[in-house]
Parts: sequence; structure tokens; C-alpha cells
Amino acid sequence: MNDNLHQLRCFGCGARIRGEQAAPDFRCVVCGDLFEVEYPGWNQRGGTDRPNGGALKWLWRERRSSSELLDHSGVWRFRELLPILDSFGNAVTLREGHTPLYHLPRAAKALGIDQLYAKHQGMNPTGSFKDTGMTAALSVAKERGFEWVACASTGNTSAAMAAYAARAGMRSLVLIPEGKIAWGKLSQAMDYGALTCQVKTDFDGCLKVLTEIVREAPIYLLNSVNPYRLEGQKTPAIEIAESFDWHVPDHIIVPGGNLGNSSALGKGFRELRELGMITRMPKITVIQAEGANPLARSFRTNGGTAIDPVEAHTRATAIRIGNPASWRKASRVVLETGGWCLDVTEGEIAVAKAELGREGIGSEPASAVTLAGLKKLVADGRVTESDTVVLVLTGHTLKDADYTIDFHRGQLLSPEEAVPFASEIEALRRDAVEVEGTPKAVLAAIEAVKGRWA
Ligand code: F0G
Repeated sequence: MNDNLHQLRCFGCGARIRGEQAAPDFRCVVCGDLFEVEYPGWNQRGGTDRPNGGALKWLWRERRSSSELLDHSGVWRFRELLPILDSFGNAVTLREGHTPLYHLPRAAKALGIDQLYAKHQGMNPTGSFKDTGMTAALSVAKERGFEWVACASTGNTSAAMAAYAARAGMRSLVLIPEGKIAWGKLSQAMDYGALTCQVKTDFDGCLKVLTEIVREAPIYLLNSVNPYRLEGQKTPAIEIAESFDWHVPDHIIVPGGNLGNSSALGKGFRELRELGMITRMPKITVIQAEGANPLARSFRTNGGTAIDPVEAHTRATAIRIGNPASWRKASRVVLETGGWCLDVTEGEIAVAKAELGREGIGSEPASAVTLAGLKKLVADGRVTESDTVVLVLTGHTLKDADYTIDFHRGQLLSPEEAVPFASEIEALRRDAVEVEGTPKAVLAAIEAVKGRWA
């Protein structure tokens, strides 16, 4: 490892170790907390290792027209800010990143705010934001000579890991909670050749089992407790800042599950500010599903200083997590940026997802918590008319097509869940209609909806 450039610092007790000294479960042997990657050379102002922010902005822009494979990656294009490999030639890439930033004019109008955007991380090669972290951490595993990599997952991490492992010619082990992940994701792990174990427990149970496995077998752990994952996942923060010409938006809204993503985006913006590339951090707000809301509860009861794990339930299976590993890091990000952590109901998630769909922006349910959360922030005045807001959409709509179909057939929500949103649901639902195979029948179908569709 490039130890003169990076080291690991314990988030709890501050202990510093070299990269290859980390325990297999990435927990600090002193206090049990997680590590963060840090770059000591950056702190010496004027030092030769401190990146020159102005020069980097120019270099990264130049790379957009480069034909180098690494420059085609929206992660490795920014490689000066993640010098975690001995040789960048070891990077395993599927051209991740470079995701679109979509304007959402209809949702913005409905909410009465001017500037609302979606940064769609579901447009990554395996359909979720996990690819940005996986290219980073799996490349480390490859460089260190591991044959096997593994993760516990609600589906997207496993899809990403299996794909990158396949590209690198490595073997991958996936532990997923039985019956609780979307089929699209399960099919990806199979397609990419992982050994997939459907374990008779939930996500939190899978992670516990895997933690014990990696302590005994030479298998490299690729959950977001692995600090190199977060180095890749911080790069969308750079993309966002670059898109706004280095004037960051006022608010970034992120879904919260195991809380690695919010931690990573916060780290990305923090480092840009420390390097003088932006002048302030956006407020970062984390949104959880009501049935999987340990951090939101923590903010309500103790200001984000301690969490009580919950038994998680939500149809947004990606964020069905009751004991999030990175909660301390995420809590720090929320507090330091002046953001919030809220939770939203199953009905609010379903309606928000359908509303995004009606703007032509598909996403998986876990991503739609961001719009549902934004509505609350606007309603209580925490987001105001002149604010610029970016929702981070984390997964592709085809990951969980069953959810979407169930919604449009009226089979997703229970009557109690649906009642508060009856009129919205009525306006948004678009079940398929069965017609005879004649032009007349299809034209009649058009006539039938003319009056009903606003
Ligand atoms: N959105 C999607 C689509 C996800 O897959 C996840 C997490 C999250 C949001 C939450 O991100 O955990 O960093 O707070 N999915 C993990 C997985 C847990 O196994 O795929 P987080």
C-alpha cells in the first residue's frame, strides 16, 4: 500500500495504523470502532503531497476528453483524492460514475422551490451507487493478492461486488437475507458468478456471520465498514461540486441504511473544503424508512449521540437495516453540516417514487425516500424557496420492478397505509389495461382515460 500517502485513523479513539495492519473485520482492536482513510500529506500547507485544488479542477476537466481507461471512470478521474493503490494500474473499473444530474421541474414546482435536482447513482454499471465504492475497495483487495471477497447485502452491494470480482477474475461470496431482497439484485449476483447464500436471518444477522467468517478465513470484507469503499463513494460529491462549477448546492438529501453513503459523501465535501476547492459544505440530510429508522430516532431522542438498534421492516428492502454500522460517521456528517435525519412512511415512499417516475426518472424505492423527506423539510420551513437541493437517487428502477408493478396495480400498500394519500395515488396509478387486438379497441382505451387523466 501507498503508506506514505494514506493511513487509517480510528473514528472512535483516533488510533492510526497502516492500511495493511487493519483487522479483517476493519474494527479497531483498541476500541472496536471503524476506520477512516486519511492522507497525512494534505495537512501540510504548501507541502508537496498536498493536492493543488486549482490545478486539479483543470486536470479533471481535461481528462473528460482523454482516451485513457482510468479517465473514463467517474471515480478514478479524481484519483488524486483517493491515492489508495500502489499502482493505479491495479484499478478494476467498469466505467462507473459520470452519473447524470437531472433537473426535476415538476417536483420543484409542486414544492415551491426553484432548483431541485436528482443525482442518479442508479445509472452506474450495475444499477446502484455501490459501484463507486466497489471499484475502490475491490481494487485494494486485488492489489493485496486476495482470491476471495465477500459482503453481506440487501442486494445492491452484492450485485456490485460480484460484477467487479468477475472483472478481476476473483471469487465472491454473498450473504443475503432470505426472501428479503429484490429479484433483480439476486439475479445479478448469480449472473456475475458469486457464491450466493440466502441466509435465514436479516441483513444485520448476515453481517454478523460474515464478520466471524473473515476473522477465520482469508476472505476480504467488502461491506462499507471497509474504509476504502467510502473513498470511492465520496466521488459523487466531487461530481456534484463540479457540476455546480464548485458552488455547492444548499442541501444534499440521501437515503440512510447502513449509513456508509451519507458518511462517504460528507467526507468528500469535507475534503474538498479542506483543500480549498469549495468554500462551504452543503447541509446533508439523511432519510430513513419509518420501520428502519435507528438514526432518525437517535436524532429525536439524543441528538445523534447514541443509537438503539431496531428490528427493521420496510418494503424499501435496500434500507431494511436496524443496526447501521456507520452511524457514528453519518451522525457527524449531519451535525457538522447542519442537516437533519428524518424518517418517512411506506405510503410517503410509494407516492414519492411514483412522482419521480412521472418526471421520467425511475428509481428503486429506497431512493425515493429522499423526495418524501424533502417534502417534510419544505413543509416545516427547513428548506426554503431559494434553496438549491440535490436528491441522491441510489438505485435503478429495474432493481425492484415488483414494487412498481404492485403499486400501479393497487396491491402494494395496505388500506391504512394508502388512505392518507388516496387522491395522490389515484392520480399517479397507471395499471396496464387489457384490450382486444384491434385499433378500435386501443383507440377506445385512449378515449377512456382522456377524461380521467389530468
Ligand atoms: N439505497 C440503496 C438503493 C441501497 O442499496 C442502499 C444500501 C442504500 C440506499 C443505503 O445506503 O447503507 O450506505 O446507508 N444497500 C446496502 C446493500 C446495504 O447491501 O446493498 P447506506
